[in-house]
Parts: sequence; C-alpha cells; structure tokens
Amino acid sequence: MRPRLLVAFALGARHGALASSDSATDSATPFRCEHPPYTPQIISTSPLIIYIHNFTTPEERAHLRQKTNGTFRRSAITTPTLHSSIRTSSSTYIPSDPILSCIESRALAFQGHDIPPSHLEPLQLVRYLPGEHYSFHTDWFGNKAYASPAMGGNRKSSFFAYLYVSGDVVGGGTNFPMVRAKRGEAWCGVLDCDGEYEGGVTFRAVEGNAVFWENLREGGEGDERVIHAGLPVIRGEKIGMNIWTREGPVGEAGRKALYPDL
Ligand SMILES: *[C@@H]1O[C@H](CO)[C@@H](O)[C@H](O)[C@H]1NC(C)=O
Ligand SMILES: *[C@@H]1O[C@H](CO)[C@@H](O)[C@H](O)[C@H]1NC(C)=O
Repeated sequence: MRPRLLVAFALGARHGALASSDSATDSATPFRCEHPPYTPQIISTSPLIIYIHNFTTPEERAHLRQKTNGTFRRSAITTPTLHSSIRTSSSTYIPSDPILSCIESRALAFQGHDIPPSHLEPLQLVRYLPGEHYSFHTDWFGNKAYASPAMGGNRKSSFFAYLYVSGDVVGGGTNFPMVRAKRGEAWCGVLDCDGEYEGGVTFRAVEGNAVFWENLREGGEGDERVIHAGLPVIRGEKIGMNIWTREGPVGEAGRKALYPDL
C-alpha cells in the first residue's frame, strides 16, 4: 500500500485540473490541463531538495521536444551573450502556450499556492550532447545586477526536469557535492550509488523525473550548499528543463534583458 501522502497528491492533482479553452494543437479537442500523479521524495531538508518522479507526462515531453527542435543555441551563463567553457551545452527558450502554462501552474502549486506566475522566468530547455557539461555553479546570483528588483530579485527555487534521455545515455547526472548522499538499494534507480560518499549526491538522468531545490536561505542570501554540476554526457543525449522562480515578479525590462528573443 502506498503512503497516504502520495494518494493525497494524486487526488489533489486530479481535482486541480484546469480546463482551458485554448487549443494547444491543431486538433479540435480543447486542451485540458491535467497534472500527472507525480511522487515527491525528500532528499534533504536543509537545504531543501525534493526528488519528483513523473513530474512531466510523455505527451508534454514530446510537445516540448517538437516545439524546440532545431532551436537550440550554445548556452549562455547568466547573460545571453556570454559563452564559456564552463557551460558547453545548448539551450533554448519557449514562448508560453497552454501546455507550458500547465507545467508552470504545476511548478507553482508544488511550492504552495502563494506564488503568482509573474515570478517565473520563461522555461528554458537545455541539451547536452557527448562531451558537454555544466561545471559547478549555483542558480542564484552572487552578482546583484542579475538579482535586481527589475529582474524579480534572486532565484528563489529551481526545478531541473529531465525531458529526454536517450536509451544509450552514459553520464549526464546532476551532482550536488555538498549534499549528504542517501544510501541503500531503494535509491539506486535515481541516485548514482557507485559514487564516493564524499562526492555528495548525484541524480541520474531519468526521463520524466525532476529535482526541486531552494536556492536561498531564510534571510534571502544564496545558499552555497546547493552548488551543483551537470556532469558530462559521455554517450547519448540529455535534454533538461529549468524552471526558475524568482523572489518577486520578473518585470518587462528584466524579461527583455534576460530573454531578448522572446
Ligand atoms: C512513474 O510512472 C510510471 C509509468 O506510468 C510508473 O510505472 C511508475 O510507477 C511511476 N513512478 C512512481 C514513483 O510513481
Ligand atoms: C526534429 O527535426 C528533424 C528534421 O526536421 C526530424 O527528423 C526529427 O524527427 C525531429 N525531432 C523531433 C523530436 O521532433
């Protein structure tokens, strides 16, 4: 029997389904935002890190891949013009549509219902091919220029959702070196159990699942313990999605500065 909490999540998700009159595709059936019965598991309470099984549906993932096909460009760090060997992946932004709004509403509901959609940055997809990686970094900004009120303040939380993982993938995990690793057979499907205990936690790239974490401490300063890296993909392909929630609304000026093409 599954724990009651999980059942509550599943029911809540179903009752929370929203009808939308916008059609996401050319089909005549109106799109309905229905959240899948995802399963959260606590990895760490301080910093708060939660692993989420089945956060996206196969239909959502297919839609996102199709919509971004051919649009990936070399990833920037913080500003759209700055390229570096620190981050060798490619990324793309997607203008919102009903399916994206559905995922966004799920990400906001997950964090409690008090965060308005204006606090979200546009969703970013990032693709890693063999040899590509993202060195250790935090998603929150030390440079206040990127965390100004016009930008919505700093990044309060992050979701990294694995959207596509090719069957032959080797590598491509997400490593949090300062987080105490969970141990035991039950975790080995989603965590790399072969790594050194001192190496922290490494999430395997498992399609459909996501990792959520809080970036800021109580007082609003960045939490250095959530430093992490996208480990090199050795073989195959990985596509992930970043969902970043800011402390406040991302203003029009901030949106334009961060995402000039949207
Ligand atoms: C995730 O979804 C798959 C496919 O529907 C299912 O087999 C699996 O049990 C789910 N995992 C969890 C942890 O809910
Ligand atoms: C992406 O586009 C290429 C060429 O147009 C096509 O062969 C491929 O199937 C597309 N992939 C996806 C996931 O839509």
